[in-house]
Amino acid sequence: MGSGVPPERAQPQRTQRTAEDAKKVTNLNQDAAGETGRSARGRGLVVFSRVRAVGADRVEINIYVLRKIMNKTFRVFATCDIGEAIDLLRKRGYELEVYPHPEAPPKSLIVEKVKSGIDGLITTLRDPVDAEIFEAGKGRLKVVAQIAVGFDNINRADANRYKIPFTHTADVLTEATAEFAFFMMGTLARKMWTAEHLTRENQWGYWHPYLPFLRDEVTGKTVAVIGTGRIGLAFIKKCVGFDMNVLCYDPAYENHAFVKTIQEIYDLRHARGLVREEGWIKYVGFEEALRQADFVSVHVPLLREGESATPTYHLFNEKTLSLMKATAYLVNTSRGPVIDEAALALALRENWIAGAALDVYEKEPLPADSPLRDPAITDRCRLMPHFASAARITRLSTDPDKGMAGRCAQGLIDVLESNYGGDVTKMPYVVNKEAFAK
Ligand code: GLV
Repeated sequence: MGSGVPPERAQPQRTQRTAEDAKKVTNLNQDAAGETGRSARGRGLVVFSRVRAVGADRVEINIYVLRKIMNKTFRVFATCDIGEAIDLLRKRGYELEVYPHPEAPPKSLIVEKVKSGIDGLITTLRDPVDAEIFEAGKGRLKVVAQIAVGFDNINRADANRYKIPFTHTADVLTEATAEFAFFMMGTLARKMWTAEHLTRENQWGYWHPYLPFLRDEVTGKTVAVIGTGRIGLAFIKKCVGFDMNVLCYDPAYENHAFVKTIQEIYDLRHARGLVREEGWIKYVGFEEALRQADFVSVHVPLLREGESATPTYHLFNEKTLSLMKATAYLVNTSRGPVIDEAALALALRENWIAGAALDVYEKEPLPADSPLRDPAITDRCRLMPHFASAARITRLSTDPDKGMAGRCAQGLIDVLESNYGGDVTKMPYVVNKEAFAK
């Protein structure tokens, strides 16, 4: 829909490669010649041995010199540690330098490393990647592999101008992020944080029908899902289990086939007597979604003015927050700048809405003087440390179909080792394919 559709959202990327593709792809969990096993590398040759039992007391040892590969050693700088995937890249013969501290390296250091002639740069959402970096890597830097699905830290126009492909780690964090958003919604609605504090602080003296406070159920309520890309759709699937009615809004792309399927599930559940009231799901306009919803969950990418026909920067501001019900809750696991935090703090202070739970912020980490830290709103404002995808397998599995680390490393390998016949437009994890279309 419209020119503002970010290509990676309009056309969800495949997670499964075809058999044909697979033949052409060298994989992180295999050696560089495409075999799983112990490999030794010498002057571009991979030596691979296979031992197999051929009888009760006999083994056969085959030693293959598979093929000449990678005459060149690829040099890579990673701005953060991505776990075991780093070791696997090293085993392939990559020369890898990893920034040793948990915080982001200064941009000047990234520029310096890129200038030194690296082939690949592993980044994450906190590293600014723009013309200065691409200029430093001119003629040498071949790929930026981002360990995150969001890539608002990478200047796409600059990457395209310098013809540097960048990859991201979509899909593998979809469920983890969606379930975290769902948990945040429940935590907020039932005031679990306050309830636990009260218990810990020894203020729980009796069981009582309505004290210390009552809250509202999530089950059967109406949720507005703002952004129906991968994570928004996964979030809706979780809401179905809680009999929630769903108002969908997406500024760029509407997935009516998905909505139809969910409605069919609701119809069936009702017809079979699993629920008393039939649930519903539909696309509506933004303002209608905000006016009707009991919960609003945000799943749009951050797109600033000029980056898209449908920018999302400060989509939630004083005007739009004031449209929400006074009993409604807002959950954001997308990107911080989608919400004007000063406006949200005001809305919470003045009870325009009942509460908010945030995992992402306009500035990260959340500054000490953020208005969101106002003690007057603590009971209705939950603050998480950009944590939604922080599940073990999701973050660190070296399997590109399961983990961000594996997918990040595989994106790097695809470009550096010319997988898919070197055709960047066919590489599943490359974002800016438009720069390479013939
Ligand atoms: C996390 O926010 C991500 O973009 O992966």
